[in-house]
Amino acid sequence: MKEISVTSSFLVYDSIKELSNEVQDLMEQAIEIRKKAYAPYSKFRVGAALLLDNGKIVLGSNQENAAYPSGLCAERVAIFHAGSVYPEAKILKMAITAASDTNQTKAPIPPCGSCRQSIAEYEIKQETPIEIYFMGEIGEVYKSTSLKNLLPFMFDKKFL
Ligand code: THU
Repeated sequence: MKEISVTSSFLVYDSIKELSNEVQDLMEQAIEIRKKAYAPYSKFRVGAALLLDNGKIVLGSNQENAAYPSGLCAERVAIFHAGSVYPEAKILKMAITAASDTNQTKAPIPPCGSCRQSIAEYEIKQETPIEIYFMGEIGEVYKSTSLKNLLPFMFDKKFL
């Protein structure tokens, strides 16, 4: 028997103002699309903005449904849109922000497990890391240098 250890590390920015201009702009677009989320059930709005290597920015917000599991997270709305419209483009960066209609979200909100698995597919396909920045409504922004850093031991096509 042996023990192995896998560690992940993140950069923590005090606020959006500490980000580079490019990432700040991306996060601001995520904030704007977050406000358009369709979240009548959870009242929890999420926005995601992707920067592609062709210069395009692709946005998504969570889309809920009366049949709850039929809704979709913001990250997957954005990444599936990018995969559909720009199948050849690489995704360089992703900015995520979440805010509740009922209380102020200060904690950085990471993508859920299903979104991590979905983003992983594109990171593996493009063979280059996707930088992921995530925040709540205000406050700190966390940066992960890759999706793999957020999802160690991921399931992928090599196991098939
Ligand atoms: N949600 C996202 O959009 N992204 C996540 O990574 C976590 C959760 C959405 C789904 C649902 O509409 C609401 O937030 C509450 O779970």
